Amino acid sequence: MISIHMQRINDMLRGEAPFDRAWLVRSTGLVRDLIALPWEAFPPGSEGGNAKDDIWLDDAKFQEWSLKVQADTRAFAELAKTADHASLHEAHKQMREVCRECHLKYRNPEITRGN
Ligand code: HEC
Repeated sequence: MISIHMQRINDMLRGEAPFDRAWLVRSTGLVRDLIALPWEAFPPGSEGGNAKDDIWLDDAKFQEWSLKVQADTRAFAELAKTADHASLHEAHKQMREVCRECHLKYRNPEITRGN
């Protein structure tokens, strides 16, 4: 779900799909809402899935990034309502930094979908 909407946002901002504000607002809003959900699913002791085990070792950093990504996706969804194409492109690149950092450190590298 998240990757579908991220892909759609990407295509639009890169000019590979027509720029459609209504779709952008919808997709950014969904990413914001979906990204807020999984953190409830990572309580200590729930090792396994596709997360690396060190999530549970370095919890403070994980918490910090999970809060940051939620703040960033909220801000991006707001921006999508009004900002021009160039500033959206820039904001999107910055938003993805935290996705990438956290995935590099914590996500099982066999997964390559999404970011
Ligand atoms: C705080 C850490 C962290 C941040 C920040 C983060 N992720 Fe993830 N993400 C994970 C972990 C860990 C997994 C693997 C969890 C699992 O599948 O069990 C994952 C998995 C995913 C997946 C694959 C899940 C699936 O359903 O196939 C997608 C897509 C994804 N993240 C998108 C994003 C996007 C987009 C962002 C930024 C807007 C983001 N993530 C930010 C930690 C993070």
